[in-house]
Amino acid sequence: MRKLCEDIANSIENAIRGYIGADDGGEILYTGADGTPTARIDDVAERAALRVLKNDGRSVRLVSEEMGEVVFGSNPEFTIVLDPLDGTYNALRGIPFYSVSIAIGKTDLSQIHYGYVKNLVTGDVYAAERDRGALLNGKKIRVSTRKEADPYCASIYGCAFAERNFLNQNGKKVRLLGSAALELCYVAAGKLDAFVDARNRLRISDVAAGKLIVEEAGGVVTDDFGGVLSNPLMIKERVKIVASNGRIHDDLLVKLREWNK
Ligand code: IPD
Ligand code: CA
Repeated sequence: MRKLCEDIANSIENAIRGYIGADDGGEILYTGADGTPTARIDDVAERAALRVLKNDGRSVRLVSEEMGEVVFGSNPEFTIVLDPLDGTYNALRGIPFYSVSIAIGKTDLSQIHYGYVKNLVTGDVYAAERDRGALLNGKKIRVSTRKEADPYCASIYGCAFAERNFLNQNGKKVRLLGSAALELCYVAAGKLDAFVDARNRLRISDVAAGKLIVEEAGGVVTDDFGGVLSNPLMIKERVKIVASNGRIHDDLLVKLREWNK
């Protein structure tokens, strides 16, 4: 699994290099299967991944942000959920925070068994295999230990009130970084204490790998009501997500209800 993910990530990294911070990479070519516009850089990234999968020769089902679902071979062993470039806007503007996200699973988000996210700027690789912990560049990572009264730091999308008022209350901070896959990995590594996106806009491809990585690092990931995230692995699915170090999870769920009143 890891080798396949590495090959996909390396191929994407090479393919998009010339488009970072460049206007022509932003040209919209078509509407992707996820219903959002596909920029040239997204298309180039996805094609690079497809070439690797074709050469690999295994029979797999691929669910990818731009082209939707493709089945390689006649008897797929597993499903790969791919976001070839998470943080397209950042990449095009030359803001150094974007990634590739690859998850391997079967039917739904609750059954992902391998997650891999590569920071395409620093080269950092976050990976997790179910029940075997989460790693950053091969070393175990854990979520933070901050509690609700502590000055914790969270990415919070889709709660305008929170974004305005959470800042500087008891030292709490909001950071919106622009690559959901990587922000989830930051929760796993204890750099952020939580990641919340209540817009119902994220796709399974944004969160499938990061969700497992947070859970394997000791964190908790639910929907906005504290329920299990079990969306089917289909590109049109939309997700509301609360991911945290576990200790502040209930507090965030309560706050979310207040913010959305
Ligand atoms: C985007 C990123 C971003 C999130 C957007 C997504 P993309 O994915 O994950 O963090 O806020 O909603 O669309 O389009 O760059 O793959
Ligand atoms: Ca994405």
